Amino acid sequence: MKRIGVLTSGGDSPGMNAAVRAVVRKAIYHNIEVYGIYQGYSGLISGQIKKLELGSVGDIIHRGGTMLYTARCEEFKTEAGQKKGIEQLRKFGIEGLVVIGGDGSYRGAKKLTEHGFPCVGVPGTIDNDIPGTDFTIGFDTALNTVIDAIDKIRDTATSHERTYVIEVMGRHAGDIALWSGLAGGAETILIPEAEHDMEDVVARLKRGHERGKKHSIIIVAEGIGSGVEFGQKIQEATNLETRVSVLGYIQRGGSPTAFDRVLASRLGARAVELLLEGKGGRAVGIQNNALVDHDILEILDQAHTVDQTMYTLSKELSI
Ligand code: F6P
Repeated sequence: MKRIGVLTSGGDSPGMNAAVRAVVRKAIYHNIEVYGIYQGYSGLISGQIKKLELGSVGDIIHRGGTMLYTARCEEFKTEAGQKKGIEQLRKFGIEGLVVIGGDGSYRGAKKLTEHGFPCVGVPGTIDNDIPGTDFTIGFDTALNTVIDAIDKIRDTATSHERTYVIEVMGRHAGDIALWSGLAGGAETILIPEAEHDMEDVVARLKRGHERGKKHSIIIVAEGIGSGVEFGQKIQEATNLETRVSVLGYIQRGGSPTAFDRVLASRLGARAVELLLEGKGGRAVGIQNNALVDHDILEILDQAHTVDQTMYTLSKELSI
């Protein structure tokens, strides 16, 4: 293999730049040329492809977002779109592709693999919802952004003696909610992976209030529904003054944490190694701090799970 491509796709996540940098530098280290594909699969279809040099990825390791830009591309879900993408790859002499992104990006990489094009998936999403890896690139940074917000909201919640519902991202996964809720000392955490009983939530809030608690923080994963609607229900059921904060897109931005930069560097470099070893159709990940790779055709069939013992612990610590 003499020339590979790299793209970022779907929702951006902090650390994607560090992953792109690792792909480019690792490939050049092994005398392989690297082409950057801009705007994800949509740029692949339209041929927005440029050669990257060592200097192209200088000064980006600490930056959020992605220097390659990103997009969600409906056309690439079609057979015709995929074929156009492969034609562009062949036109530019690209023999293998590193795809950095989440669930939708992996589906695209799976399709390319089924068409016989060697691809390696690198998990880049704040949601931490890709099977076969303990962590995805960007999750740790998003988590720290959420914790910072919880700490700040806690100040005002205490001053006003209010209940706060904080809605966090995660698509269908509850990882951001669970980890930030545990780290932020939330009274209640609602995630799609665990049943919740409204009566129990209300009873806990009332108990805390009667015990003299000055405030309550409830973390709601977007996957279970609207934080605003949930806040209204809580206010009606408890008669406690309740406010809602939907954290939104701030969770996707910011300088990546050291953890995400290291993870991105390791996974990006491993993806290049796999292509050089002639192993396309893989998805890289980290499990028990060791780099692993799985069949990209099968990885998305596995269910994403959260650690239920952590969820139980969060309840035990917030009685
Ligand atoms: O996958 C990352 C993510 O931020 C999810 O947490 C969220 O549900 C989704 O993307 C939002 O997507 P969009 O950027 O298309 O609004």
